[in-house]
Amino acid sequence: MTGVLDRPLLLVGCGKMGSALLAGWRESGIVAAGVHVVEPMGVGGVAAGADVRAVTRVDDLPKGLDPEVVVFAVKPQQMAEVAPPYRRFVKSGTLFLSIAAGTPIRFFEEKLGRDAAIVRAMPNTPAAIGRGITVACPNPRATAAQSALAKSLLEAVGEALIVGDEALLDPVTALSGSGPAYVFLLIEAMTDAGAAAGLPRELAARLALVTVAGAGQLALESADPPATLRENVTSPGGTTFAALQVLMAKNGMADLMKQAIAAATRRSRELAG
Ligand SMILES: NC(=O)c1ccc[n+]([C@@H]2O[C@H](COP(=O)([O-])OP(=O)(O)OC[C@H]3O[C@@H](n4cnc5c(N)ncnc54)[C@H](OP(=O)(O)O)[C@@H]3O)[C@@H](O)[C@H]2O)c1
Repeated sequence: MTGVLDRPLLLVGCGKMGSALLAGWRESGIVAAGVHVVEPMGVGGVAAGADVRAVTRVDDLPKGLDPEVVVFAVKPQQMAEVAPPYRRFVKSGTLFLSIAAGTPIRFFEEKLGRDAAIVRAMPNTPAAIGRGITVACPNPRATAAQSALAKSLLEAVGEALIVGDEALLDPVTALSGSGPAYVFLLIEAMTDAGAAAGLPRELAARLALVTVAGAGQLALESADPPATLRENVTSPGGTTFAALQVLMAKNGMADLMKQAIAAATRRSRELAG
């Protein structure tokens, strides 16, 4: 982790993702200089604390506030209205970090000015349990130290990677951003198929859920790549072999996944404008 912040962090939007980040930052101690939050609903529960000062409107922030980082965690459709008043924090040394899906760096350069140091990040929902993966891209104004700081802040909710090419964030959105939904669908499909094969639905649902979670964890912890793990459980002529002949046939799972991720990538590009 890259040190701790010398100046306060300003979090704009403390919904699902903002509060997950806030919890992670406090646990890691990276926000030692305190956190200011702007959230129309106010913050309560675990988000409240002596180190967190929350206001409901940007105009209510302390006059002399000089944040080291401003984190935007509002919905993309709210961003055009939300971002402009934060232009007053643009100065050398203040980093703007956005986690808004599909909102490109140029949008923030338009709203905040070309002098703003910006990192655009794409997290995913397992961030809520500290198991997310985020890919982030800095603009040319962001220094290497600011990119490293953004990475550390994002690591509060899982893994984080920095890339230099913003165009990668469209396929990233399609793979890891939307990816949890594909896994949930896999669990649903396995449940339905198990029930259709004669299992009580509740048993099928539990078997599907724990199998997906356990296999994912095994793949994560194993030194072998997923293909080797798959081959290890596939005896020629056995039951897994019979199933994989269906799943790996032409127009099977690999082809479908390619089409699905291509469709999501195209949609991400369309949404970014
Ligand atoms: N959830 C995910 O898994 C996920 C994954 C990848 C990326 N993201 C991105 O993360 C961002 C936040 O998503 P989320 O799921 O955390 O959404 P969320 O739960 O709706 O949180 C957004 C919060 O921002 C607040 N807000 C609205 N206007 C504001 C303003 N003017 N100033 C300050 N706060 C304001 C909202 O309050 P109100 O409820 O009153 O509007 C809400 O509490 C989105 O841009 C999304 O694309 C989320």
